[in-house]
Amino acid sequence: MSSYRIVGAKRLHGDVNISGSKNAVLGILAAAMMLDGPCKIENVPDIVDVHAMLEICETLGAKIKNCGDGVYEIDPTNINTFEATHPKVKNIRASYYLLGALLTRFKKATMYMPGGCNFGNRPIDLHLKGFQKMGAKGTKATDIRDGIIRIVADELRGAHIFLDVVSVGATINLMLAATKANGMTIIENAAKEPHIVDVANFLNSMGANIKGAGTDTIRIKGVPVLAGGFSYSVIPDQIEAGTYMIAAAVTRGDVTIHNLIPKHMEPLTVKMLEMGFNIEQGDDWIRVSVDDDVELEPTNFKTRPYPGFPTDLQPQATVLLCLANGMSRMHENVWDNRFQYVPELQSMGASIQVVDKVALVNGPVKFCGASVTALDLRAGAAMVLAGLAADGVTTIYQANRIDRGYEKILEKLRGIGAEIEHSDEDMEHVTVDDE
Ligand code: EPZ
Repeated sequence: MSSYRIVGAKRLHGDVNISGSKNAVLGILAAAMMLDGPCKIENVPDIVDVHAMLEICETLGAKIKNCGDGVYEIDPTNINTFEATHPKVKNIRASYYLLGALLTRFKKATMYMPGGCNFGNRPIDLHLKGFQKMGAKGTKATDIRDGIIRIVADELRGAHIFLDVVSVGATINLMLAATKANGMTIIENAAKEPHIVDVANFLNSMGANIKGAGTDTIRIKGVPVLAGGFSYSVIPDQIEAGTYMIAAAVTRGDVTIHNLIPKHMEPLTVKMLEMGFNIEQGDDWIRVSVDDDVELEPTNFKTRPYPGFPTDLQPQATVLLCLANGMSRMHENVWDNRFQYVPELQSMGASIQVVDKVALVNGPVKFCGASVTALDLRAGAAMVLAGLAADGVTTIYQANRIDRGYEKILEKLRGIGAEIEHSDEDMEHVTVDDE
């Protein structure tokens, strides 16, 4: 169990580089398990969830070579089991993509229920209903026994699937299963996140026929072979980039964030402009700064599937709202219970009242250093941001949760002037992890 110690109230300034997207690479690694030959994946972030996924893939029989600098050679040709029952399957959410990948490869898949951050009910019914439409059995909730999913299909066939809730995970999983199915699959009301487009681009570069990723309707014509043999570079992480934009903002600093896709940042950029920040941007960078005399305007955020404001930046943006002059509202529309971090922020001085799915945020406050817990990955990122803005010292317990999704966060923050380090302090009574 690791902790971070931050000495806050230092303006961040300088340049920081964004790593490959966690949620894209996790889908791509699962997709690589369906290939008929090897491939090379570049810009893979060095984060805990990726290491877990790589370890799971190795236990399936995939050969994985770390070539350094975020480049991995992956050869899935010797995968010899349809059972993903490595204990780490239960630690990460994205292990659910192995259902689609193994179902494609073996026409059957056995897997523990996936884990991941805990913010309320996280069903996978849409994934299973989609597999059922494609011919799989074992897809009913009552078929899941002892936390193990067992699905099997005589044949995977193309299907017309309407998702009644926009789901990132279901969209990617069904896209995987459809890639080598017999015939055409149409996924309607599909999620449009950048990582969905990235997984589709990866698969297309390996021989798949997927059209419409990034729109509401994805059409996948099944192909018999996914030859592999190519290199693919993962897109930059939209959420990591947003977290550094907010880090610059909450410290009233001046930071240029490189290797991002400005288009992906628009839902945040537009709000930061509204609040009074200066945003400059080029092809692959954004600079965030603020004039000394500017009082930040309050505003309202509503989390929505892409291109709406991402729920994965909600806790971080709430920290920003604490610094605005007046009442702001943060509406959480994706997850039932993603305000668990609010009491932690309150212990640092935040004035926030949660009413159902809305956090009413009163500002401006001056955060003060405190001992807080990273209750999940993005909640942990929010604690880091509050600690950077706070007067005094903040200790963040269970910071290992932050390492799930942020590559070299201490190094990157120190590079732009933060005083942050690993701390030996730990809470004695904390013994559990996420899952
Ligand atoms: C992905 O989770 C991300 N995880 C999450 O990021 C992110 O918060 C989420 O998408 C929304 O953007 C990964 O990509 C690994 P969903 P996922 O299926 O796929 C409901 C982070 O911090 N739903 O899009 O699990 C569900 O309850 C993580 O990096 C169903 O009802 O999310 C939710 O309300 C945390 N039935 C909504 O859809 C289903 O079968 C969106 O969930 C599936 C989902």
